[in-house]
Amino acid sequence: MVEPTAATIEEAASLLRKGGLVAFPTETVYGLGGDATSERAVAAIFEAKGRPKFNPLIAHVVDVADARRFVQWSEAADRLAARFWPGPLTFVLPRAERSAIALLTTAGLDTVAIRAPLHPVAQALIRAAGLPLAAPSANRSGAVSPTRADHVADSLGERVPLILDGGPCLVGVESTVLDLTGPTPVLLRPGGATREAIEVVVGPVELSDALPTGSAIRSSPGQLESHYAPSRPVRLEARQVSPDEGLLAFGPHPPAGAVMTCNLSPAGDLAEAAANLFAYMRALDRPGIGRIAVMPIPQTGLGVAINDRLRRAAADDGTRGRG
Ligand code: TXA
Ligand code: MG
Repeated sequence: MVEPTAATIEEAASLLRKGGLVAFPTETVYGLGGDATSERAVAAIFEAKGRPKFNPLIAHVVDVADARRFVQWSEAADRLAARFWPGPLTFVLPRAERSAIALLTTAGLDTVAIRAPLHPVAQALIRAAGLPLAAPSANRSGAVSPTRADHVADSLGERVPLILDGGPCLVGVESTVLDLTGPTPVLLRPGGATREAIEVVVGPVELSDALPTGSAIRSSPGQLESHYAPSRPVRLEARQVSPDEGLLAFGPHPPAGAVMTCNLSPAGDLAEAAANLFAYMRALDRPGIGRIAVMPIPQTGLGVAINDRLRRAAADDGTRGRG
């Protein structure tokens, strides 16, 4: 783990240009970055994460001009970028003709997911490398996403040679993924940019069937796996707790009786809750706690992204504990 300075960012950029991997902070979660134009670098990302199959990754760029080199930009993307970039909103757009993005980055799809992160260290790193960076969350596949540099070290250890420590992530949940390839934008993954705020800019947005409330896989292949999973079972909508449970609380009146309580936001603030979500899930995933009980979170604004991650954490598909 190193402090981001001009020297360490240049060292990281040079590692990336050679096809190496670097973990770096974004405003959403820490990413495990590699050269998005190199099949070999992207293969190394999948290997380090232990991803069972090749889900498409997001290409991280510095701004709209950078993005236009790799995707067929659109009018809706322009308006949304003016409001949200750099920031926690990812666009899925058709691959540009002769786009340099590696096929493995997009898992062979003819579309590319692209975003410009806000975090100054991410911006500096992409600029210094002079490359678009493919970067999934910097954790072993299926595990809780990292919002601090030590989460990355705990999860990936020696698999990542360099971790830039930019402190805790301010947003705390991943970017919103929005498919802009059709006539109406489709929300593929709720995240740091809320549907309400997006609709102010582009009008009505459709919800993907792949969201946990829907039934079938739409076009975001990474969507239905058990994800964000602690090694302990997770129980949602908890209004009481039993004595073997750790409580992930929300709001001013958590029920008493848990082994340990972590309150996402005693004030009931959803932005604060999102920023604390993954760190508190990790804190409760410890010996002495049999199960993690989670209080109800309002399904509005950032609460939609929080509830999406919690439902996936609670989904038991038999891979729990795999890490
Ligand atoms: O906040 C974030 O987005 C973080 C930070 C590091 O930027 N990254 C992240 O990456 O969450 P990852 O790989 O965990 O999630 C990428 C999401 C997946 O749901 C994937 O299915 C979707 O984007 N995706 C990527 N390319 C796609 C494409 N061409 N079409 C549809 N969905 C795509
Ligand atoms: Mg992830």
